[in-house]
Amino acid sequence: MADQADKTSQQQDTMAARHIAIVMDGNGRWAKQRMLPRHAGHRAGVKAVRRTVEACVELGIRTLTLFAFSSENWGRPTEEVQKLMTLFVEALNKQVPELNEQGVRLTIIGDREQLPADLVRQIEASEAMTAGNERLHLVIAVAYGGRWDIVNACKGLARQVADGELAVEEIDENRLAARIQLAGPGDPDLFIRTGGDSRISNFLLWNLAYTELHFSDTLWPDFEQQELAAVVGGFQGRERRFGKTSAQVTGDHA
Ligand code: IPE
Ligand code: IPE
Ligand code: MG
Repeated sequence: MADQADKTSQQQDTMAARHIAIVMDGNGRWAKQRMLPRHAGHRAGVKAVRRTVEACVELGIRTLTLFAFSSENWGRPTEEVQKLMTLFVEALNKQVPELNEQGVRLTIIGDREQLPADLVRQIEASEAMTAGNERLHLVIAVAYGGRWDIVNACKGLARQVADGELAVEEIDENRLAARIQLAGPGDPDLFIRTGGDSRISNFLLWNLAYTELHFSDTLWPDFEQQELAAVVGGFQGRERRFGKTSAQVTGDHA
């Protein structure tokens, strides 16, 4: 019976993407192609976020995790960073009431201590407003780095050990995973990166261990619903073996 239940859940894993994570890359190049400042690309990127959220609701996706600003992006020119922070405040202010009506729950992951106070206030208000929604969980990674996430989780465990609440021997993958930023929604089924580069760029290092990867040449502001639907459709054909054999996963021992 336990075997049967195990098989059923794995077969479901091969069928539908429930959680999609996207590295939204290519805004700057999109702007450059049009002889526009980089910021125009970031603005166009916000529109693509809106379209993608709609598409995910239609496709029945449960969780969408978007990489908006990495730990390393702090190294960009001050003007670009400042304008991005202002754009985040503006986008949340404008779009969250609408997202709320659509039943979208919003969570921000990343190192909030690095963010300007007005953005933190806007984030807290947005999360509170949408906390009860269940149609789609939209997770946005801001000032986020996969390595920071793991270090942050380790610090939490270390504190428990120092306080005598936990023995070193009790530290295991489950206890660490519970302290990773995506502990609630869990690991993505499908990862997409737009912009033509095939790299992770310090996104969800812990959570991508068994995620299916898809790299697209489309620049983020040009990313459309049709492409997302095609990628999600293609995912359904992939056999996720999680280290096992094909026969174990499909139950086909012929
Ligand atoms: C992604 O687009 C947005 C952020 C990292 C904030 P880029 O700004 O990296 O665009 P390209 O890669 O320069 O085209
Ligand atoms: C990844 O894009 C980060 C985000 C999309 C937020 P980058 O443009 O920062 O990645 P690299 O520098 O090309 O690796
Ligand atoms: Mg880039």
